[in-house]
Amino acid sequence: MQMNNSSPSPFAKRLHGKVAIVTGGASGFGESTVRLFTKHGAKVVIADVQDELGTSFCEELLSKPGNVVMYVHCDVTIDSDVQNLVDTTVSKYGKLDIMFNNAGISGESDITILGSDINNLKRVIEVNAFGSFLGAKHAARAMIPAKNGVILFTSSVSSVVAGVTSHAYAMSKHSVVGLMKNLCVELGEHGIRVNCISPGGVATPLLVNAMGMEKKVVEDVLSASGTLKGVMPTVEDVAEAALYLGSDEAKFVSGVNLVVDGGYSITNSSWPTVVKSLMSST
Ligand SMILES: NC(=O)c1ccc[n+]([C@@H]2O[C@H](COP(=O)([O-])OP(=O)(O)OC[C@H]3O[C@@H](n4cnc5c(N)ncnc54)[C@H](O)[C@@H]3O)[C@@H](O)[C@H]2O)c1
Repeated sequence: MQMNNSSPSPFAKRLHGKVAIVTGGASGFGESTVRLFTKHGAKVVIADVQDELGTSFCEELLSKPGNVVMYVHCDVTIDSDVQNLVDTTVSKYGKLDIMFNNAGISGESDITILGSDINNLKRVIEVNAFGSFLGAKHAARAMIPAKNGVILFTSSVSSVVAGVTSHAYAMSKHSVVGLMKNLCVELGEHGIRVNCISPGGVATPLLVNAMGMEKKVVEDVLSASGTLKGVMPTVEDVAEAALYLGSDEAKFVSGVNLVVDGGYSITNSSWPTVVKSLMSST
């Protein structure tokens, strides 16, 4: 049998028969994950507030044979929206196997405490932390009776390395990891796995807009500051992590904050940089 690299054979469909929700599914990591989950046989619900983008993305996927997807408008900060998202998914597809709480915002980029705007802080925490909580809560409502399920979150490299983002963003992403760990313990007895993915910088609309630069310049910054050279981080790297954590291949993996950053967060380049510059000046 001839194998096609871009489209897995039915035997290689790692999410065959699964039902997944991806919040923030219209753009960036969410969009890429929806594509990969669909390719691997999952029925996928795209949830976002960008209705035009989400609907056209959904139509694009539906135009290909075999894809089962739908778009649901959902503001993750509104309890009734998230309730409706989960209820609509379960009533249409009969269950919920994977809930990927990925929607997020960067908020303002001032990284100083004195420059931090309180309303920005509240909004970033509302979307990134509270929104993740609501997603997990309503997913658990569907998953606990089924004694099965996977809850995933997108946190950030700023949950493990300090000083690179605003305090609001760092607080929101640390709290997502805390929620993930607490939920891992609570929901383990119901057979539900709970994990985080913490990406490093990737030139998605979120990061490009936050930096206020051309995408190419953002990519140049990522290349120059990255630890792993010769590879550009992409949205697919995060989607692949979500595929692994969402699949049965990760059936004993729970409570993990999977950092996808090419080793950036374990690197502290200040010592070699200073030593190198001293040596070059002598
Ligand atoms: N891009 C990066 O460098 C980076 C790094 C680490 C973590 N993250 C995180 O990754 C996640 C995805 O971001 P991205 O980089 O793909 O950005 P993105 O802007 O391309 O996608 C984020 C999506 O979330 C949606 N969204 C925002 N607020 C929402 C709300 N209240 N309800 C529902 N949907 C909402 C947006 O409409 C958008 O479609 C975020 O949680 C972000 O914090 C991004």
